Amino acid sequence: MSDGTGGPLALVPDAIRAMARYEVPHPPGIVAKLDANESPFALAPDIAAELGGVLAGVALHRYPAGDSPALRALISREHDVAPDALVFGNGSDELIALVIAAFSRAQGAARPRVVYPAPSFAVYRIAAASHGADAVEVPLCADFTLDEAALAGTLAAAPANVVFFALPNNPTGTLFPPEAVLATAAQHPDVVVVSDEAYFEYAGVTLLGELPRYPNLVVLRTVSKIGLAALRCGYLVAHPDLAREVEKVRPPYNLGSLNQVAAAWLLERHGPSLRARAAEVVAERDRLAVELAAIVGVTLFPSRANFLLFRVADARACWTRLVERGVLVRNLDRPGALAGCLRVTVGTREENELFLSAQREAMR
Ligand SMILES: Cc1ncc(COP(=O)(O)O)c(C=O)c1O
Repeated sequence: MSDGTGGPLALVPDAIRAMARYEVPHPPGIVAKLDANESPFALAPDIAAELGGVLAGVALHRYPAGDSPALRALISREHDVAPDALVFGNGSDELIALVIAAFSRAQGAARPRVVYPAPSFAVYRIAAASHGADAVEVPLCADFTLDEAALAGTLAAAPANVVFFALPNNPTGTLFPPEAVLATAAQHPDVVVVSDEAYFEYAGVTLLGELPRYPNLVVLRTVSKIGLAALRCGYLVAHPDLAREVEKVRPPYNLGSLNQVAAAWLLERHGPSLRARAAEVVAERDRLAVELAAIVGVTLFPSRANFLLFRVADARACWTRLVERGVLVRNLDRPGALAGCLRVTVGTREENELFLSAQREAMR
């Protein structure tokens, strides 16, 4: 078995065997953690203390409410959608997997197909592989815009089960035209078309209002990017007929009670201020983009999210030099479209300044 070919390992599907584990390096001495597209703003201490009191009242000896009632009421009010149009997930990560699982019927002899423009969010591939589906990647254009003709060709060539669009896309930051997502949904009414709006607060573009017109459209949202990443709370909005099928494959107690209560309390009381901080990040992003693009040797790609993707000649060396200065960014350098690419999350002004000076130094 040590050669990895015999015993139970022979039962692992090739797509999983070929995959590397999703690993995130945590080097010591980091003062500016700009690698995970998080909000740089911690909860204010007075709010955290009050939340502590609220959480003290949670019955830890009981299972959570499986249908997340407080969150459901809040989000259905906020988006003016029916409560049964919602499914809550342990992060939108989980919802990506549940959508693939629910709509995984094989089409004839072929395995189910999950289609997405690439490079994109790694979880699309991981979730497809773990549900016995083929991940069909449609390469983006060289400038990371959507290749609409290639996408149309892929969808015409063989039936897909699910198409994912990250709006805006991670890790490129590109905002694909929403019209292209809607056109895909209109032209392929038998396919589930997902608008993954994890970075909605930074791009301001949503297809939520289109749901009544597109019964095969699914919108994913998360609280992770507005300062609540630790809560692992995402939600799906879709026609209740679709949401019902996803509900069936959801682990019954997927959202812990502490997370549910914290998310509902924080969104109810502090939702507007959490979202307002996203506007500060957008202003910093635009400032950071100008400064970063001005560094000789840096090629910057336009971004509508809370991060910037850029290319340098030697990404590995650049990443290491940034780490030596206490700045952690994501190294995406690998052969193919992302060769030489690093991704920096927009931080506080001080963090961004530290990053910029370390980046200038790294390019000398
Ligand atoms: C495009 C995209 N979708 C979904 C997610 C997952 O978010 P969550 O924290 O809700 O699982 C991310 C996280 O980085 C993302 O980039």
